[in-house]
Amino acid sequence: MTDTADAVATPGSTLGAMPPGTRRERRRREAAARPWWHTAVVYQVYPRSFSDSNGDGIGDIPGITSRLDHLAELGVDVIWLSPVYRSPHDDNGYDISDYTDVDPAFGTLADLDHLIAEAARRDIGIVMDLVVNHTSDEHEWFRDSRSSADSAKRDWYWWRPARPGTTVGEPGAEPTNWGSFFSGSAWQLDEETGEYYLHLFSRKQPDLNWENPEVRGEIYSMMRWWLKRGIAGFRMDVINLISKRLGVDGVPGSLADGAPRADGWGNGFPQFVDGPRTDAFLAEMHQQVFDAFPGTYLTVGETPGVTLEQARSYTDPANREVDMVFQFEHMALDAGVGGKFDPRPLHLPDLKANLARWQHGLAETGWNALYWDNHDQPRIVSRWGDDGEHRVSSAKTLATVLHLHRGTPYIYQGEELGMPNAGFTSLAQYRDLESLNYAADAERLGIDEETLLRGLAAQSRDNARTPVPWDASTNAGFTTGEPWIDMTPGWETVNAEAARADQGSVFHHYRRLVELRHDDPVVVDGAFELLAPEHEQLWAFTRTTDVARLIVLANLSGQELAVDLAEIGLDGGADLREVAVASHAEASRPDGEGRLVLRPWESVVFRRSA
Ligand code: NOJ
Repeated sequence: MTDTADAVATPGSTLGAMPPGTRRERRRREAAARPWWHTAVVYQVYPRSFSDSNGDGIGDIPGITSRLDHLAELGVDVIWLSPVYRSPHDDNGYDISDYTDVDPAFGTLADLDHLIAEAARRDIGIVMDLVVNHTSDEHEWFRDSRSSADSAKRDWYWWRPARPGTTVGEPGAEPTNWGSFFSGSAWQLDEETGEYYLHLFSRKQPDLNWENPEVRGEIYSMMRWWLKRGIAGFRMDVINLISKRLGVDGVPGSLADGAPRADGWGNGFPQFVDGPRTDAFLAEMHQQVFDAFPGTYLTVGETPGVTLEQARSYTDPANREVDMVFQFEHMALDAGVGGKFDPRPLHLPDLKANLARWQHGLAETGWNALYWDNHDQPRIVSRWGDDGEHRVSSAKTLATVLHLHRGTPYIYQGEELGMPNAGFTSLAQYRDLESLNYAADAERLGIDEETLLRGLAAQSRDNARTPVPWDASTNAGFTTGEPWIDMTPGWETVNAEAARADQGSVFHHYRRLVELRHDDPVVVDGAFELLAPEHEQLWAFTRTTDVARLIVLANLSGQELAVDLAEIGLDGGADLREVAVASHAEASRPDGEGRLVLRPWESVVFRRSA
C-alpha cells in the first residue's frame, strides 16, 4: 500500500481522538519533562478470549467495547490489543494476511474505529500489535514472492537454495541448521521453485527481509495509516529479530549455522537476535513514522533474548528508536534442562536479583515494561504464587512487588482477577500451535505422555488464553455459544462481577496499585534499592525520591514470616506507620521492638516523607 496524505494530527497533539483535558493530557502538562507513558498502566487484551458478542465462541471487537467500563474502573490508561488483522489464524492472528483490515472473526474496521472512540471517551488509548518480523504465508506479498524465483517480491522474504552438496528436500539440506521457535526446522521447502524460505516461527509465518528498503517503506506507510485512525501507538512483535546477521563466514548474503540445541536443531539466536542493523532499522522507523509527533505515541518493542546493554540502546531517548522494551529474562528463571516445558522451582533470590539488575541497568537511561502474565506465559498465581488456599493473597502480593518497581506495568486480561492456569489434563484441550508442535515432537525427544502433559499444564501458552470469566452465568458470560477453548475451572466464583463487588478482591487491589502509580510520583521516579537479596521468602525494597520513600515488604511464601527490620537495613521501623497499599484489610505493623510479622503471602507498602 502506498502513502498519500500523511498529516495525521498536529505534531505534539494528544493521542488520536483523545479530547483535551483528559487525564493523560493533564499529567503531560504537569510533568512536561516526563513522557506520559511513565505514569501509565497498560492492559493487554487477547481478543479471541476476551468477550464474544455474536455467539460464535470467539471473542471480538464489539465484545471488547462492551467491556470497557471494567477497564475504566480498573483505571488503566492504554489497551494493547493483540492482533485483530485478517489472518488464517495459524498462530491466533500473529500470522497476518492483510495489515489494513480486520479479520471477520473479530468484526470490521468500523467496529475498531468505534472501539478506539469509545476507549478515548474513557481516557484509554489503543496500542496496536505490529507484527512485521513476518507475515502470513497467505499475505499477498508472500504469494507473489513464492510465485516465481523471478518475482519482483522474491527478495521481500528470505529465500535460499539447499545447502551446497546436499539434495533438495533431504534432511540436512536446509540452508542453515536453525530450529524454529515452534519446533522443527526454521526453513520450509517450496516445491515449485525448489528453494527454502525462512520462518523463525511457524511455516505459515515467513520472515520478511528487512534488508530490502521497499519492505521497510511499505511497513512505515502502513504504520502511518494506523496512526491516522487515532491509535495510541504500537507494541512491536519480536522486533529485535528483524535484522539477520549476514556474511559471517565472509560469503556475502550467507547465514551461519548455530550451535546444536537439545532438540537436535541449531540455535540461530546469535544470528538473528539484536542483529547488526536493528538499531538502524528502528531509528529509521522512528524517523519515518513518529518523529513528527514528539511525545504523542507509545512504542514498546518485544525483545526476546535482548541484553541489558542493548535494551538501553533501544530505549535511550537520544537514539529515538522505541520507548520501552518488553523483555523475557525473568520469565526464563524457572526453565529446566529440557527448556521451558521442563520447569524447575523458582529460587526467589534469582527473581529478585534479576528485576533489580534491570532496575539499576535502566535507572539513568532507558525504560522497561513490567509484567508477569501475557498471552505467551502461564498465569503468575499458578506459576510463582499459590493458586489454592492463598490464591487471593498471593495474586495481590505478586502484583504489589511488580507494580512497585520502576517501569510501565502491563496487566494481562484475567490477571486482575487472579486467574489461575487452565488446568488442562488432556492433549485434546490444547489449541496453541507451539504446544501442539511440541507434543508432536515429544516421542522423538523421548518425552513420555505424563511428562508431556505435566510440562504443558505448567507452561503452555493456552494457560493464559482461556476465556475471561465475566460473571456466573453460562460460560461465565464470555459467549452464548461454544467457547473456542475450554474455560478455566472455578469461573463460577472467580469472575469479574464477583471481583468488582468485593473490596477485598484481587481486582480492587490492582485498581489501588494503578491509582497509586497515577497519584504518587515516588512510584514512578523513586530510586530502587533491594534489601535482603538472599532471603528466600522475603521480597523487600525501597523506592526513594527527595520527598518520599516507599518501603515494600512482601512475604512470598505460605508460612508466616518474622522480619527483623534492623537486620534488613531498616532502622527499627518506628516510622513505618503510613500504609500506602497492602494485601490484607488490616495490614500487619511493626511491634515496639522493630519486628514485623507478615502473614502467609502478605505484603505491605509503607510510605514516609524523606
Ligand atoms: C511473539 C508473540 O507474542 C507470540 O504470541 C507469537 O507467537 C510470536 N511472537 C510470533 O509472532
